[in-house]
Amino acid sequence: SRCWAVVPAAGVGSRMQAERPKQYLPLHGRYLMDHTLETLLGYKRFEQLVVVLSEQDPYWCDSEFAGDARIIRAPGGSERCYSVLNGLRALQDLAAADDWVAVHDVARPCLRHSDLDALFGALQNTAACGAILASPTRDTMKRGVLHADGTVAIDHTVERTQLWHALTPQVFRYQELTQALEYCLAHQLEVTDEASALEQRQRSALLVEGRADNLKVTRPEDLALAGLYLTPGK
Ligand code: C5P
Repeated sequence: SRCWAVVPAAGVGSRMQAERPKQYLPLHGRYLMDHTLETLLGYKRFEQLVVVLSEQDPYWCDSEFAGDARIIRAPGGSERCYSVLNGLRALQDLAAADDWVAVHDVARPCLRHSDLDALFGALQNTAACGAILASPTRDTMKRGVLHADGTVAIDHTVERTQLWHALTPQVFRYQELTQALEYCLAHQLEVTDEASALEQRQRSALLVEGRADNLKVTRPEDLALAGLYLTPGK
């Protein structure tokens, strides 16, 4: 089957406390987003890329890839899951039901082709409905309880051996992912990533250990780290 990529990029990134959405912050002399798009566009398996953009987005026209013929634009939604669904709908007349779609947050600019190879490799000869990049938790995990005075106390330590951080890309079959997201949104079920939508349909995906440097730029200090990981000549 063929492979497509959907890149949600319609967030406002309020936790960055920046004057513009984080995907448009400068990183080594270009938009943060342009690093992500370059990596995806350079991956030969993808037919085309859908980039989901906010409808009032004054920055995209200055992206290095704004005029790229391999990019299809889709309009953003109020939450990430709606943006992803809009991106999938843009492939309606292009993708076959069993084509693979990789959904990747634009805010993860440090993704490498080796991680994409690992994901697609894991999907060969498997009955799983998809695969996601993930990294095992390394810290001791605590469950906290919020007290009335606003402090948070430790309730107990959570067994961490089976806990993973869910990263992106997350790869699923086009039709199955679209239908699972539509189902969850129609039933007001919470979907924080694509795999959680499939979980609601009792469909289990593979966890594929990815590189720990595939961070999501969320807070100001993450930008500096991403800059280090993306040193020219990486
Ligand atoms: O804010 P957060 O980092 O969790 O967003 C994850 C990804 O989802 C980002 O790439 C962001 O641009 C995207 N997003 C979106 N539409 C929204 C909210 C977030 O495309 N309404």
